[in-house]
Amino acid sequence: MTSVEPPERLRKANFDDLYTSPDPRAYYRALRPLDYRVPHHGSGFFRSVLARLPVGDRVPRVLDLCCSYGINGALLKYDVEFEELYDHYCAPDAADLPVDGLLRRDREFFGPRGRSPGAHVTGLDTSAAAIAYGREAGLLDAGHVRDLERDEPSGDLVATMAGVDLVTTTGGVGYITERTFDRLFRALPATPGRSVPWVAAVVLRVFPYDGIARTLARYGLTTRRLGAPVPQRRFRDAAEQADALAALDRLGVDPTGHEDDGHFYADLYLSAPAAAHPALGIPAARRARE
Ligand SMILES: C[S@@+](CC[C@H](N)C(=O)[O-])C[C@H]1O[C@@H](n2cnc3c(N)ncnc32)[C@H](O)[C@@H]1O
Repeated sequence: MTSVEPPERLRKANFDDLYTSPDPRAYYRALRPLDYRVPHHGSGFFRSVLARLPVGDRVPRVLDLCCSYGINGALLKYDVEFEELYDHYCAPDAADLPVDGLLRRDREFFGPRGRSPGAHVTGLDTSAAAIAYGREAGLLDAGHVRDLERDEPSGDLVATMAGVDLVTTTGGVGYITERTFDRLFRALPATPGRSVPWVAAVVLRVFPYDGIARTLARYGLTTRRLGAPVPQRRFRDAAEQADALAALDRLGVDPTGHEDDGHFYADLYLSAPAAAHPALGIPAARRARE
């Protein structure tokens, strides 16, 4: 099985400190100048998948892996766009607020913007600070602090997974591999009539997804790459771009018109039962590497 290349083998900018701060201001301030926008592309993709899930009138339940401060949660639960989150968290009036003041300001901002039908969003991340913030701000309905690369899911996470309709992630693959997906899906109780959750993932092209796709196939999900690659963010410097180009070369992925223009690009993958794919009406990408 092809394993995912760990991020440390790429000279990829390390933003780990941003994910463990008590609030997301540093995250938005640091990533805006790099034109980081993958949650914008992810939310459009996830919303279109949510609209096609066979859940009837029920509010769909999402588990967002590597959720950080609940960025995808904000975009799925509320009628806001990613650019507005930059404006909101980088605004001068947010700069000097204590964390509880920022949380109050968030609740005032998001409260009236509830999306209908929206989604019930549970986050999973290794950062306790990010999960706590996302929950208190109302961007996550629930959260689990867990590293499934290392540990088995807790009983609470197993119970969450039993009710999940869609697993999502942006910017997560590379940190998480097939190990995380296998532990999550292996823990699913066999409930008669209950379908296996679908998986919608936005994945940097420097990381192969075939190991995760093969793992999900064992649980009855067929993976398709959809649409065209989307820009994730600008490379921080020439060394980061050179490493990305070398990683793509090893994978046999052509960077022309994409990474060679100075940005990381990501692919959109949807894993669902084979019979569900054709009815979705989401165009499949030309398969450049299978
Ligand atoms: C690049 S950020 C992505 C955040 C957000 N999803 C986005 O698109 O902006 C990666 C996140 O993965 C989390 N993370 C790293 N290793 C993880 C693991 N093994 N399991 C769960 N989360 C992890 C980090 O704490 C961080 O919040």
